[in-house]
Amino acid sequence: MNKVALYCRPGFEKECAAEIVERATRLEIYGFPRVKDNCGYVIFECYQHDDAERLIRELPFNSLIFARQMLVVGDLLKDLPVDDRVTPIVGMIQGAIEKAGELRVEAPDTNEGKELLKFCRKLTVPLRQRMRADGVLLNRENHHRPVVHVFFIASGCCYVGYSYSNNNSPFFMGIPRLRFPADAPSRSTLKLEEAFHVFIPADEWEERLASGMRAVDLGACPGGWTYQLVQRSMMVEAVDNGTMAQSLMDTGQVTHRREDGFRFTPTHATTNYWVVCDMVEKPWRIAMLMADWLINGWCREAIFNLKLPMKKRYEEVSHCLEEIDKRLKENGINAQIQAKQLYHDREEVTVHVRRIWSAIPGRRDERERR
Ligand SMILES: C[S@@+](CC[C@H](N)C(=O)[O-])C[C@H]1O[C@@H](n2cnc3c(N)ncnc32)[C@H](O)[C@@H]1O
Repeated sequence: MNKVALYCRPGFEKECAAEIVERATRLEIYGFPRVKDNCGYVIFECYQHDDAERLIRELPFNSLIFARQMLVVGDLLKDLPVDDRVTPIVGMIQGAIEKAGELRVEAPDTNEGKELLKFCRKLTVPLRQRMRADGVLLNRENHHRPVVHVFFIASGCCYVGYSYSNNNSPFFMGIPRLRFPADAPSRSTLKLEEAFHVFIPADEWEERLASGMRAVDLGACPGGWTYQLVQRSMMVEAVDNGTMAQSLMDTGQVTHRREDGFRFTPTHATTNYWVVCDMVEKPWRIAMLMADWLINGWCREAIFNLKLPMKKRYEEVSHCLEEIDKRLKENGINAQIQAKQLYHDREEVTVHVRRIWSAIPGRRDERERR
């Protein structure tokens, strides 16, 4: 198996391809991407046979911005016989992996893919039975073992492969299923909820999304993101000239500041923990604003959207992330920076920055350690 399949948002195949080529090259893994517009995935074909396996082991999945899932696959299986699709699929994976912990029969996140999913669901049961009988799958689900993926791109036509459970997306098709809370003021509430799931490990939620924390929401109206913070019992300064949902104001946890988010300074600058920002602005301006907040010590963690331009989207995001990194380093701030195009993101990506400690005496973290 010498190919890596990457699932992505339809329309972002070029960005996903540019990213995998650059990241693989840094690991001295060479190959070429097969890209078809709006198909919802990219196939990166490695020149060396073992390199696909090395790529999915050595390239941290969390560091990829545009990929929703990353797996090794073999050649495309075409014209599967209608009376027995199971045998060729199992034959493809046998020898490549054994005692896998889970089977996912998937399709791209496109309209055609949605049609294929009905069939995928039907095929899952007989496929799982045969894989268990043949030792490809363990008899019980095990989330510490590799995952077998069967990825249908058309009727009777699929890739078969695997991903590693410590370096993949834990979600079917790489998409977390979140339920829209009926009392949230806007659908974009799901963006911030998904960001928490993707960027903050579940066992750290109690500490990093704790009740009583202070948070600032820049570009808050009508309040979908503020809703997420309020749900976690935080005290929020919501900055926006628009109208906030009354239900949020009634909680007593929100102070509405009708100000310009680029000029606003937090009232509780030294104790504020989170800043979140969903203002529609040039990505570069948002990136620099967030760097300022982190450098000023006005937050410990930031989650923000970079709304992407129509062209050179990968270059634009990379440039913004590099500049944030550079400015934080120049100011002696150690930080963890992650970016992902989330399922609920459209023409945008979401960035998370966590300040770890500051090397320059006098900065907030230094004071806290004394
Ligand atoms: C995409 S909406 C935010 C939606 C919000 N996150 C939610 O979940 O309901 C963008 C908001 O940013 C606000 N905005 C844009 N530029 C701003 C600025 N310079 N200062 C404050 N708010 C701004 C707009 O008024 C708008 O309400």
